[in-house]
Amino acid sequence: MSMEKTNSRTQNRLRLTIYLVLTVGFASAMVLSAGNKNYPAGNNHKDPAEPATENKTIASSPIDNKIENTFRDVNKQRAQESKEAFLAAYKVFMHPRCMNCHPKGDVPLQGDDSHLHAQGVKRGPDGKGLYALKCKNCHQDENLNGDYLPPGSPGWHLPPVNMRMVFEGKTPRQLAIQFKDPKFTGFKNFKKDMMHHVEKEPLVLHSWTYRAPPPLSHEEFVAKVKEWIDKGAAIPDK
Ligand code: HEC
Ligand code: HEC
Repeated sequence: MSMEKTNSRTQNRLRLTIYLVLTVGFASAMVLSAGNKNYPAGNNHKDPAEPATENKTIASSPIDNKIENTFRDVNKQRAQESKEAFLAAYKVFMHPRCMNCHPKGDVPLQGDDSHLHAQGVKRGPDGKGLYALKCKNCHQDENLNGDYLPPGSPGWHLPPVNMRMVFEGKTPRQLAIQFKDPKFTGFKNFKKDMMHHVEKEPLVLHSWTYRAPPPLSHEEFVAKVKEWIDKGAAIPDK
């Protein structure tokens, strides 16, 4: 037998031994840890100074897992309902009566097809119109009755240029993230300011007085926004 062959046989034997030691070692570690489930390493349950043992035993009992799972299910359920409430409110946010003042460009939108505002109207730095073409030149404190006459409400304007508050083109997910970010809204207290805005803002209320109203009543809309926030203001998946 050559030196080389002996060497490789020794090597093979060595490999087999290592393999066996590892396998047996791993298997017994599994068995031991399974048997010790209630008393994790480092927790000597005979030590009277450690009364937490009882709790730790319960903590990994099947009953506790069940409670934990129930909690998880309840939270999941809440988050799901929160998202659904937002999706309902989203239809209002994206309705022309709202979106026409929340365009992605610097021109307001008009009508039920949200076309660009005629007469070369532009946002301007403060949202109140550019140069001499101010919103309030044409938009009065109330709606003017008659075809093609401008709708009106006190303080008729777009959000300012440094906080455009764009709705147009945003998915529910993007819009929900925007509402929760003070960088986009300027809200100091998200819940309070958001609720106040959708409940009381004259420009929001106005949307139910002009042409085709949004798909929910104002009360239903406010209730959906409230439910979204109360159930954790969850961010929709898309
Ligand atoms: C006439 C224009 C106009 C209309 C119509 C309008 N908004 Fe606004 N919206 C504004 C302006 C301007 C602001 C900025 C805050 C301010 O100056 O009051 C704003 C801000 C908001 C904000 C603050 C958060 C943010 O970042 O977007 C929300 C929410 C909002 N509007 C919802 C609505 C909803 C809902 C409707 C329709 C029911 C609506 N708006 C219709 C002009 C309008
Ligand atoms: C020269 C007059 C004039 C000026 C200035 C003007 N608008 Fe208008 N706007 C109108 C008229 C008229 C209508 C209605 C058009 C129609 O009936 O189709 C209108 C409609 C709108 C609508 C559509 C509302 C809806 O729900 O369909 C929005 C939004 C709007 N204007 C925003 C603004 C904003 C914001 C400014 C200032 C940045 C402004 N407008 C400046 C005349 C004007």
